[in-house]
Amino acid sequence: MLKIDHLSHSFGRRQVLFDIDFEVAEGEIVVVMGSSGGGKTTLLKCVAGLLPIEEGDVIVDGVSVRQDPETARAKMGMVFQYAALFDYLNVADNVAFGVKRQKGLVSKAARQLVGEQLEAVGLEGSEALMPAELSGGMRKRVGLARALAMEPKVLLYDEPTSGLDPVTAYSIDQLIVETRERTRTTSIVVSHDVTSVFRVADRIAFLDKGRLLFLGTPQEFRAAQDKEIQDLVTLARSEQALGTFSGPTL
Ligand SMILES: Nc1ncnc2c1ncn2[C@@H]1O[C@H](COP(=O)(O)OP(=O)(O)OP(=O)(O)O)[C@@H](O)[C@H]1O
Ligand SMILES: [Mg+2]
Repeated sequence: MLKIDHLSHSFGRRQVLFDIDFEVAEGEIVVVMGSSGGGKTTLLKCVAGLLPIEEGDVIVDGVSVRQDPETARAKMGMVFQYAALFDYLNVADNVAFGVKRQKGLVSKAARQLVGEQLEAVGLEGSEALMPAELSGGMRKRVGLARALAMEPKVLLYDEPTSGLDPVTAYSIDQLIVETRERTRTTSIVVSHDVTSVFRVADRIAFLDKGRLLFLGTPQEFRAAQDKEIQDLVTLARSEQALGTFSGPTL
């Protein structure tokens, strides 16, 4: 469904992605981890067609992001780190924003679609709220509802649980998994919340200074010998010992 094909990226003379090459199967959730500044957001933006691709390519459902970014973008939904809602629009207008523009939906159909999407993310009835009235977790849900309204084949999430308390983070993780079960969407989730990763990932990709250091199942991740990965696994185990970890046993 999604193929990242020998992708490299530089900002000016500074190279931040080096020959990234992996595929995500239909309905699969791949979580991209890695230290801060390692290139995770850059990778997501390249996939999303928000940054020009100069070396390598990304193929989404048979369409090259490099050659036809417009068509490729229409197949993808992005959930931004801070939800990126329009503060002057209410929840309903935020959710309907892209659909109205792209599909020219009239208001009645848009209203129905908004209602359905808000229900899917557990926010039914909140159409009239303004972004300033929403909690962090609710903002993320609205961001997801907006992406889902476009019926994307691929969903890209940048740090969906960052800045949330553990209980709210858990509910967002559940929502990501539920959304996949319901829509069979293919997903890439960027995260450095290691407890969250084990809850949602079918496979984990680990980026180290712009290079793909590891790609495999959570089980393989736990067994990986790389020091950067072992440190994370140890952290997850200590969170579990403290009782702050709610998920499958490590
Ligand atoms: N628009 C930009 N122009 C120039 N350099 C950039 C730009 N965006 C990112 N970079 C640089 O690219 C590198 C990778 O950044 P990126 O945001 O992809 O990292 P990240 O893995 O998402 O980090 P974090 O975990 O902190 O979000 C960083 O060194 C950053 O300074
Ligand atoms: Mg980032």
